[in-house]
Amino acid sequence: MTKPSEKEIEFAKGLEGVVATTTQVGSVDGTAGKLAYRGYDVNDLAEHSTYEETVYLLLYGALPTRSELAGFTDKLVGYRTVPEEALARIRDLPCPCHPMSMLRSGISLLECIDDACRIAENLESKQDAGIQLIGQMATLAAAISRILEQKPPVAPDPELSHAGNFLYMLSGRQPEPLAERVMDIALILHADHGMNASTFASMVVASTLSDIHSAVSSGIATLKGSLHGGANERVIRMLEQFSTPEEALAYVDKAMENKEKIMGFGHRVYKTYDPRARIFQRYARDLSELTGDMKLYNVAEAIEKKVVATLGHKGILPNVDFYSGIIYHALGIDATLFTPIFAVSRVAGWVARIMEYLENNRLFRPRAVYVGPEDLPYIPIDQRG
Ligand code: ACO
Repeated sequence: MTKPSEKEIEFAKGLEGVVATTTQVGSVDGTAGKLAYRGYDVNDLAEHSTYEETVYLLLYGALPTRSELAGFTDKLVGYRTVPEEALARIRDLPCPCHPMSMLRSGISLLECIDDACRIAENLESKQDAGIQLIGQMATLAAAISRILEQKPPVAPDPELSHAGNFLYMLSGRQPEPLAERVMDIALILHADHGMNASTFASMVVASTLSDIHSAVSSGIATLKGSLHGGANERVIRMLEQFSTPEEALAYVDKAMENKEKIMGFGHRVYKTYDPRARIFQRYARDLSELTGDMKLYNVAEAIEKKVVATLGHKGILPNVDFYSGIIYHALGIDATLFTPIFAVSRVAGWVARIMEYLENNRLFRPRAVYVGPEDLPYIPIDQRG
């Protein structure tokens, strides 16, 4: 029987468009440019909600009452602490390596150190271990930033919100209300986004009935890549190269000529504007005006106009990562921390979707069609040449 050639086989490269499960956690409408968590538009959540409330919504399926939110917030606050043993081992890692690698290692360490999460066999205790990770991720990311700056980690402040406490643990100073609100919005907007690569990776690991720490660390590993969450750091590095919008436009021309991708543009699902990009653009402009430093924003805006005019018809438009870095930069945060901030938020989506999937679990196991040679005779090593 003759084998079909690679061209004749129909398959979804990169699993594009493949439906692998149903979900009630969130929806992405790539044509209308709409993102919703549990039916609530992210624009409304960004305007009215908080990260804590959003996490509750993602995990439990409904907006909390005041007392439910108070109870959940207490629980998250109680889970903020990262054991000193884990921090000491992170300090001893044999690198300066990327904070995302340190974060991934930190989550693995927590699994080894914390007995309770190792024995999280049933769904309830698994979810609890997941909530603990949502609480701990901000502390871990902030501690990593401090360790890299040769400064001692700052212990969490139970009086502060998740976003406010994260900023406090980064700098050691109480955050300004505007900075806290902007970080809160950034955490809300990054919390969940369909079956993206890192969510899928963490779900695949969880579907084998591995532990939640392993699933979350695979989410971090996947998010790190520059085609995914790693793009936000790459965007700011690109923007920082240019002193003027004109220099940036020359770069875009060259990149297009060489068929290179421009970071922060394009999306597998959105073929129109990413709604998160629009919100971030507004805050990036407002914060830049407030700090009196418009350089990065003006460069970004010029790049956006050019890319949209040239590639917009192909659905290549700004994504979530294009403007978020300008906001973090205005808040005084180092670029290497941009992708860890994404993880500090997205851990909620990973945990919510893992828990939903485990309720009716089936091992993920797609196929690949073999197109290589067959029935080859084995050649002894001395006769190969
Ligand atoms: N700049 C220029 N051209 C692009 C871009 C871009 N950013 N993105 C896609 N294209 C072009 C490709 O060159 C390709 O062109 P061709 O058909 O002429 O060969 C076409 O659009 C399709 O590109 P794919 O990479 O196949 O599209 P896919 O849906 O797989 O990719 C992705 C989506 C990976 C996000 C892509 O747009 C990209 O690499 N963007 C840059 C990295 C980035 O910003 N990632 C963050 C995404 S958001 C997130 O994950 C949090």
